[in-house]
Amino acid sequence: MSILRTLLRHAFQSRYFSIAEFKRAQNKADKGRDEKQKDGKKQSPKMKTFKIYRFDPEGNNKKPKMQSYTVDINDCRPMVLDALMKIKMEQDSTLAFRKSCREGICGSCGVNIDGINRLACLHKIRPRGTTKIYPLPHMYVIKDLIVDMNKFLAQHNRIKPYPIPKELCVKSEGDQQFLQSIKDREKMDGLVECILCACCSTSCPEYWWHGHTKPPNDFLGPAALLNAYRWIVDTRDGATHERLSELRNYYNVYRCHQINNCTSVCPKRLEPGRAISQLRLYLSKFKKKPKPDMVGKAPSDPYKACPKDECE
Ligand code: SF4
Ligand code: SF4
Ligand code: FES
Repeated sequence: MSILRTLLRHAFQSRYFSIAEFKRAQNKADKGRDEKQKDGKKQSPKMKTFKIYRFDPEGNNKKPKMQSYTVDINDCRPMVLDALMKIKMEQDSTLAFRKSCREGICGSCGVNIDGINRLACLHKIRPRGTTKIYPLPHMYVIKDLIVDMNKFLAQHNRIKPYPIPKELCVKSEGDQQFLQSIKDREKMDGLVECILCACCSTSCPEYWWHGHTKPPNDFLGPAALLNAYRWIVDTRDGATHERLSELRNYYNVYRCHQINNCTSVCPKRLEPGRAISQLRLYLSKFKKKPKPDMVGKAPSDPYKACPKDECE
């Protein structure tokens, strides 16, 4: 049991923990429980209360409320998502939440657990006390724990999350490979792992206040900016200049106050706050720097692209 605990702790504390390691620990926990049951040593029930945010736009009472459910955690797999699924299967089929992979890959199960944004499938159930589960904060709620991700994904689209080849290199589509050295590929470590779960953006105070304003004067948020940086450092991409030009918008990069709420909650242990400061460094190489009087007000033409010859 102590080996198992060490494995689980290691899986959750290591900086880039391995999903395979996490799965192995989870399977071992299941096996141990099954074996105990087979030996007639069935564990006594251990009841745990979950308070879950409920909102049904089509129900009679349209006001949101917190609803309590009690689950025997000795008869449940170890993660919060397992408890949610158990509640849905055995107690209340109307409870709505998103999930798909159950192993931190799809990014769909992001919720707020006890005040911190997390992936329900990677967050272990606390054995003691009541666990409160809310939808991701400052997002429009569609139903229960499901939030509207349209705006978040549209912001991600605005950073053009696809390779734009260098014009002169391309003869015709599909006739050429874009090779990359191992060293160049390593520059993208800690960036390509982003699963767009929105845990970082929805824990960013700047995104709460300016993430939902009308484009282009909305803050893109740490997730979109981390991905923008990912394409800027990709040596196969040929549109670095254009990407940086668009990011010069005061509302894109300079709204970040570097408090790093985003970094502290990322379930994949990525560092969006650091990516944003790197973007600022890249932007500082532009000859045309943002004017100091931009603090507190938006530029008149925030999307004005920097002409190519202004780039160093
Ligand atoms: S940076 Fe981390 S928290 Fe933000 S969307 Fe990507 S995986 Fe989720
Ligand atoms: S560091 Fe920037 S992006 Fe991250 S939470 Fe703070 S303001 Fe938001
Ligand atoms: S269910 Fe896919 S990340 Fe949690």
